[in-house]
Amino acid sequence: MLCFYLISIITVASEYKNSIIAKRVAVFYPSNFDSKANLPSFALVNEQQSLSEIPANWKLRPYFHQLANQSCAAIAVKKGTSLYGTGEVTGTLLRNGKEITLWNTDNYNYKTDSGKRLYQSHPWVLGVNADGTAFGVIADNTWKQQIILSDSIKFISEGPAFRVIIIERNSPQEVLAELGNLVGKMQMPPLWALGYQQSRYSYEPDSRAKEIADQFRKRQIPCDVIWFDIDYMERFKIFSFDKTKFPDPKGMNDYLHNKGFKGIWMVDPGVKVENGYSVYESGLAGNHYVKTKDGKDFVGKVWPGDCSFPDFTRPETQKWWGNLYKDYMATGIDGVWNDMNEPAVFDGPDGTMPEDNWHRGGGDLPADKHLRYHNVYGTLMIKSSLEGILKTRPEKRPFILSRSGFLGSHRYGATWTGDNKGSVDDLKLSIPMVLNLGLSGQGFCGPDIGGFADSTSAELFGHWIALGAFYPFSRGHAAIKTNEKEPWAFGKEVEDASRTALNRRYRLLPYFYTLFHEAASTGIPIMRPLFFADIKDTSLRSEQQSFLLGDNLLITPKWAAKTKLPKGNWRIISINGEKSKNDHFQPDVRQREGSIIPIGNLIQNTTQYKTDSLTLSICLDKNGKASGTLYEDAGEGFGYKKDEYAMRQFTASTKAKSVLVSVSKIEGKLYENTKIYKLKVVLNNKVIESNWLKNTKLTIKLE
Ligand code: GLC
Repeated sequence: MLCFYLISIITVASEYKNSIIAKRVAVFYPSNFDSKANLPSFALVNEQQSLSEIPANWKLRPYFHQLANQSCAAIAVKKGTSLYGTGEVTGTLLRNGKEITLWNTDNYNYKTDSGKRLYQSHPWVLGVNADGTAFGVIADNTWKQQIILSDSIKFISEGPAFRVIIIERNSPQEVLAELGNLVGKMQMPPLWALGYQQSRYSYEPDSRAKEIADQFRKRQIPCDVIWFDIDYMERFKIFSFDKTKFPDPKGMNDYLHNKGFKGIWMVDPGVKVENGYSVYESGLAGNHYVKTKDGKDFVGKVWPGDCSFPDFTRPETQKWWGNLYKDYMATGIDGVWNDMNEPAVFDGPDGTMPEDNWHRGGGDLPADKHLRYHNVYGTLMIKSSLEGILKTRPEKRPFILSRSGFLGSHRYGATWTGDNKGSVDDLKLSIPMVLNLGLSGQGFCGPDIGGFADSTSAELFGHWIALGAFYPFSRGHAAIKTNEKEPWAFGKEVEDASRTALNRRYRLLPYFYTLFHEAASTGIPIMRPLFFADIKDTSLRSEQQSFLLGDNLLITPKWAAKTKLPKGNWRIISINGEKSKNDHFQPDVRQREGSIIPIGNLIQNTTQYKTDSLTLSICLDKNGKASGTLYEDAGEGFGYKKDEYAMRQFTASTKAKSVLVSVSKIEGKLYENTKIYKLKVVLNNKVIESNWLKNTKLTIKLE
């Protein structure tokens, strides 16, 4: 017996020792590490096995120490190191010199604490050394903490001593791929989620939402989704529909579906405290609400007035919550918007619930106070939503948009950058915000196009939608009492600009979808910082106006001043006949030399998406060569996980003034040879276009 006891102590102790857990990935434990107070990890998908000892020449090591009631880890970094990531943050792309607080906060206009804390927390820093080699650091804990970036990376947590995971790689791209292995990758979204989406707080009643949908079709502005903000509910009670304004939600969704739209509807976490309200009463019966420190159901105000909040740390509560989606989704709802899930509590301390509120946990989650679970409240909520939605509609890919998040929450849903405003500053800020979220694992994100708060001018909206066509998540949204912000609301010039912008997005969908597949399989984001084009060129490290879409397209907004460009021949291309050089709004889109981009046909929504005829935009390199890929699947469902997809490669080479393009299969059982292609070779001063060609060997003469 004694012998067994000793062995188990030794096993526990040796489980938590500094070690290598994957190739060039090390975990470091502070001497006072308490596994119960830290684990299971919310960031990591799996607890990693220790593989070997950390080699003596391993350079980046944390220095753990305690400061009064705080636990700290500091990692010294070399001069000349560029720091990124840290999740959803305001300010510049380059994070050197910044301080970030990780405490999910409902931060209207990013005003609280000068925007040092927002809706999400990512205890993660990406470092890029002067020579382009790179590293990443995860402070694996959920507690309220600060990241201070100076000549060291410092994490200062209000929780117990935590472990640190360090990734070393030859490039930032490789670091992100390893981050994806550790914290998971995003799921492949349904194709329609890549389309443009129109929202407002709120389109009400249902006739107004129908009118908005009709206008898109009438004006031939592509759009895939109409959003339903809180006013569809009966007095803001979640999972209810206002009987006067939305008497027939199924009819509303059918109307949208008949016109090629999807409907996304909002569900907040706060459950109105009201006798007779079935959701509240079933929550009460199941004892599902977060408790105060005295063991009573916590009550705080949100939109409906007094609310109680599901304790998502409990497996029973996760299940109860998931089951609430059964009848709800049966009305034909396509996607769900989980908002206010920091959680926002209007009359609570610091806009949330008290830190000493009590979560009861269960399964592998220990009971603990809100201070520990606050930053993952939203993550647990969307995970529960996702499981419920999948249970009721197992054949469809779920789509959830969440306002709050944590490192790893991209596994369950997409995000947007919360309540920005209709200002030029916020337009510009959106680029580094989306980039740093992508560099922190969350690739499916975008800001409210047009700006949420305040009214937006025609000029600003024109620029915003022209840029917004290139965000991974492309949705226009507006606050209550602001001016109308639909693409046609600002007059003909901006309506035309919006159409041009969204036509560009829709024609680029084959390329976008291929990038989403890349993000879902490798963890590399869709929208990438410009320095990814040349990781050794340190002059690109702070560029935050121009950015990359994938490796092959470079987007420069019209307002960009003195933007940096990577070396090489990046040629401006026209996607749908537009001439960005002479355009007031449309960003310049440059294509990398040596690349081939698949461009689809003009459609009004993704139900019309077909790739049987494709234009291949070809930019040859110095040797007359180029290549590109195209990923396709059903755009919905999970067949792609069973090989029901097609990944093809295009390879161009030049011989005797002719370009030969070969099409070949990379993988997937949906691959076939029935497509027709138009070749478009973009030269320095002209573009040469072929007729429609059918074959796997396509030729175009260069003169
Ligand atoms: C929050 C959201 C915003 C939404 C509003 C009303 O402020 O961030 O997008 O429109 O709540 O639901």
